[in-house]
Amino acid sequence: MAISKKIAESMKSSSWIRAMFEVGEGLKRLYGEENIFDFTLGNPVIEPPEALKKELIRIVSSNVKGMHRYMSNSGYEEVREDISKFHKENTGLAFTKDHIIMTVGAAGGINVVLKALLDPGDEVIVPCPFFIEFKFYIENHGGVIILVDTREDFHLDIDNIEKAINKKTKAIIINSPHNPTGIVYNEKELKELASLLMEKRKKGQRIFIISDEAYKKIIYDGISFPNFFHIYEDTIVVTSHSKDLALPGERIGYIAISPLIKNAQALIDAAIFANRTLGFINAPAIMQRLVGKFQKNSVDIMDYQKRRDMIYEILIESGFEVMKPMGAFYIFPKSPILDDIKFVRTLQKHHILAVPGVGFGKQGYFRLAYCVDLDMIERSRKYFNEVGNAVKRES
Ligand SMILES: Cc1ncc(COP(=O)(O)O)c(C=O)c1O
Repeated sequence: MAISKKIAESMKSSSWIRAMFEVGEGLKRLYGEENIFDFTLGNPVIEPPEALKKELIRIVSSNVKGMHRYMSNSGYEEVREDISKFHKENTGLAFTKDHIIMTVGAAGGINVVLKALLDPGDEVIVPCPFFIEFKFYIENHGGVIILVDTREDFHLDIDNIEKAINKKTKAIIINSPHNPTGIVYNEKELKELASLLMEKRKKGQRIFIISDEAYKKIIYDGISFPNFFHIYEDTIVVTSHSKDLALPGERIGYIAISPLIKNAQALIDAAIFANRTLGFINAPAIMQRLVGKFQKNSVDIMDYQKRRDMIYEILIESGFEVMKPMGAFYIFPKSPILDDIKFVRTLQKHHILAVPGVGFGKQGYFRLAYCVDLDMIERSRKYFNEVGNAVKRES
């Protein structure tokens, strides 16, 4: 079949999460769904808040004329007004509706930003391990991904980032809370990154931070989330309500462009043009109307914290080496053997489905998405313990 060679190649190298999902489907047919512990997909089981569901019913039944029509490519003015007010209140910065562009999730938003920024061959730095889709998003727009290892504890390695910067560097994608590690970067490291980029700026090179904040509201133990808008001028935040309002299938998110960006209008216009010409046209209409007033809301974060605590406890008691996640709903333990694909197969034999670290650019680890039923996590304890004991016997 004459499909693009580039896409064929990308499909081969990209599909760990999906591949594991497919293996899981097969195992579920074989052993029954309740006997397979599927931690592969970041697809939350938690339902959206009740108030949001009620508001959705109200909107859908309101029968306002024109509710389903095309609109401005950046989205409804009143919704962008609500979101800009939220950011203005939060940051004290002069956000207006013009700094907000409604998008088809964070995925759509990141593609829009990259399309607006990149010329062919421009480089985008991404700390590694990383959400693998970033590679495809960057390549969608002729860019080149430059992976930079983080430190052993998954915090940013500013020296490595400095070494990776060259004249072609256009942007850095920072994702915090982080998929797959669950790390939340602290203010100190973000300020160090900002001062490095400011140095470049003084020498005439402008490097944008694209801050992927899809998990911003899912943070545990009262850890504070440093606001990038206060740290670095050339910041573009991309976020969505897939995770905080549990609406991933509804595809709603937005871009917030810092009011501190000099001559931002060209960037805003380019992003709106990209939103249109990538074929999104505009973000889903009903969802826009829904989320505008829910900027301060989220699902109950304690529901995720309970899950985080339980999976962490199970992994530790089973002998795994793992960092306790600070946010998001992923945990990234060390694989007992460097060959993480082999280890994930061992896990499968014990009915546990996970994604190997290579699927996130980091061999020797595996990822568990714990946005699943609490009861499933508890039932998986016995199986993790078994794997842990088998590993001990073999070592
Ligand atoms: C780090 C990260 N960014 C972006 C996305 C895409 O989110 P959305 O559903 O808003 O497009 C995901 C989804 O899992 C993610 O993990």
